[in-house]
Amino acid sequence: MGSFNLDVVTEVERFPFIGETIKAISTNFYPGGKGANQAVAAAELNDHVHFFAKVGDDSFGTTAEKYFSTTKISSYTLIKDTNSKTGNALVMVENATGNNSIVIDLGANATISKAEILSDINNLQSAKIFLTQLENNIEATKFAIEIAKKSGCYVILNPAPYSDQIVSHLPSVDLLVPNGTEAELISNIKIDSVISAQEAIKAIHNLGVKEIVMTLGDSGALYFNGSTMKYYKAMEASVVDTSGAGDAFTGALAAKLIEGKNMDEAIKFSIAYASLAVEKKGASSMPSRTSVDARLKKERM
Ligand code: RIB
Repeated sequence: MGSFNLDVVTEVERFPFIGETIKAISTNFYPGGKGANQAVAAAELNDHVHFFAKVGDDSFGTTAEKYFSTTKISSYTLIKDTNSKTGNALVMVENATGNNSIVIDLGANATISKAEILSDINNLQSAKIFLTQLENNIEATKFAIEIAKKSGCYVILNPAPYSDQIVSHLPSVDLLVPNGTEAELISNIKIDSVISAQEAIKAIHNLGVKEIVMTLGDSGALYFNGSTMKYYKAMEASVVDTSGAGDAFTGALAAKLIEGKNMDEAIKFSIAYASLAVEKKGASSMPSRTSVDARLKKERM
């Protein structure tokens, strides 16, 4: 379950200062939303991805419908809201670094009702992994997590954008995948060194999450499950656009775990997958399985 946004992506020389007007290098429109991006990434690697989302009854909603029918997502439930607009995101990407800055307007993503979730309960209850993020209304997210948990699903949460309202539900999460910023917000610990990253991940574990993979951009990733702590270095990439890198990582991680890979193998694969995603423009532009295999082979040589 997750979000769909229509991304308006502006490439800029640098981010503007407050009160400043700058010219864009280019503007493109892409399908996006953390939920959709993660589902599309997982579906590139796994043939059984079902996606549940809500859009407005408007032209962006129609774009969403057409888009999902062209992705490798095997089935989807797309609820249409006649009272809210489809979510959108204003994404600025800095040309030289690929760094991004995003403002989201959640629109229909934030109006999912319990009844709508129950209308798709068969898919939810029969899932082996339930993956979600925080771009929907928190009540719906909590409700779906509870059903997933009771049904025996392995629950993965990407806590983005972070909301402290999710903390009470962290004990129902099997695997949390925050980035450094989200990890700081959850743990209340400033991350500026390996030691502070380790302290933060331990503090998050103490909130009741079973396993955590903290993504640290070009500094790699950190894993902790209460006993094992392991650092993974990033892979070199020709960075064009970092938006969607976390989505690529999280979607790939879910796909690899369902394939039966252990956490170590799944994290290594997902790092390679995300390193390829940042070489493409658009947060939803997900690499193919074959391109990852080639990158992993090159890495081993
Ligand atoms: O993670 C990238 C995504 O964040 C974009 O697609 C945008 O829609 C926002 O949700």
